[in-house]
Amino acid sequence: MGIAGIRAIVVFVAVAGAFVSPAQAQSKATPSLDFEFFKTRVQPLFLAKHPGHARCYVCHSTGTTFRLERLSPGATAWNDEQSRRNFEAAQRLVVPGDWQASRLLTHPLTPEAGGDPFHSGGKHWDSQSNPEWQILAEWVRGQKAASR
Ligand code: HEC
Repeated sequence: MGIAGIRAIVVFVAVAGAFVSPAQAQSKATPSLDFEFFKTRVQPLFLAKHPGHARCYVCHSTGTTFRLERLSPGATAWNDEQSRRNFEAAQRLVVPGDWQASRLLTHPLTPEAGGDPFHSGGKHWDSQSNPEWQILAEWVRGQKAASR
């Protein structure tokens, strides 16, 4: 093989490497979203009353993109099957490991605290150290229910 052939191989390996390694690095770094943590810690936030605001559930169980399940008549919490569907709905609005790219976190957070400019449902949290917002952030970071 001539020098050109070796060069071609070197270039090929370098190019292939450039394509493969970021993807691998990302799959290692990307945390997975835990269902139990969502069900027991995150979901109750959507039913909680925040002073000066309607509950997330009131608006987000009726036709918005972020679509929570309707509670069964008389129920004060979601059952397992409903929780699974809520999990899927919430999952579509977050990027694991990246809260800033997660609309579920930026939409209800004030712009001053790092949130996005506008949410017609109001800015429910005005600090990243708010304990409720922290729960959302932990979930997106991949916090598992069992490890707490
Ligand atoms: C008063 C009604 C209302 C309340 C309460 C409310 N939202 Fe919203 N939310 C909306 C509407 C309407 C939109 C779509 C328009 C927009 O983006 O502002 C929206 C948009 C969103 C979106 C973007 C996806 C989408 O459905 O368009 C997210 C995420 C979100 N809200 C999360 C929340 C969370 C979390 C809470 C509770 C902390 C909450 N919202 C409370 C009305 C509400």
